[in-house]
Amino acid sequence: MRGWLDKIKSVIIYDADKEFYAKVFPDSVQKKDLLRLRTMTHADLPKVLEIERKNYLFPWEEDIFTDCFKAGYSCWVCEFDNKVLGYSLLSMAVGEAHILNISVDPAEQKQGVGRKMLEHLISIARGKAESVFLEVRPSNIYAIALYEDMGFNEIGVRKGYYPAEHGREDAIMLALQLF
Ligand SMILES: CC(C)(COP(=O)(O)OP(=O)(O)OC[C@H]1O[C@@H](n2cnc3c(N)ncnc32)[C@H](O)[C@@H]1OP(=O)(O)O)[C@@H](O)C(=O)NCCC(=O)NCCS
Repeated sequence: MRGWLDKIKSVIIYDADKEFYAKVFPDSVQKKDLLRLRTMTHADLPKVLEIERKNYLFPWEEDIFTDCFKAGYSCWVCEFDNKVLGYSLLSMAVGEAHILNISVDPAEQKQGVGRKMLEHLISIARGKAESVFLEVRPSNIYAIALYEDMGFNEIGVRKGYYPAEHGREDAIMLALQLF
């Protein structure tokens, strides 16, 4: 029974109770309660790439996403009403988890989608990894605020890690200790 449940959870996460209440008492449930997380597939890539290009000056191209699929990384989209609002990718190796990308459609930001995805990635890593790592541009103050709020701490700086409009930009390395 548990194996069966874990298998379903590895593909789709949602709150069935909240979806029921949303139908019966629409005003009792908020949008963020109805977000669904599901495994990203090739069919999601057009929408994912559209969001990627809106969010980043140096966006990932399709081949990076397909390489992540091939490598068996944990790749998720977050949906509301069957519409993809954001996506996130996590790699895991030798007790370390690494958040590779987390991105929310600009029109859907500040509604809890990023936090929901981050919580989900952390829950996947918990029990399997000792720490979760990520890199962020120092200029990305909203992302940094979210990571720090979730318990991440700065552990260092990677000099000239990111391409930038004029030259390169450093990355701040953050880590969350899981145990
Ligand atoms: C970073 C990002 C993923 C956050 O997603 P989001 O759905 O907007 O975030 P949430 O609504 O869950 O907000 C979570 C927290 O982030 C911070 N935050 C996000 N947007 C903010 C804004 N416009 N102003 C102030 N704080 C903000 C706040 O701490 C917020 O917590 P609060 O709601 O309790 O105030 C999103 O802004 C994004 O996609 N940015 C572009 C891509 C990117 O930079 N990704 C990170 C790469 S390291």
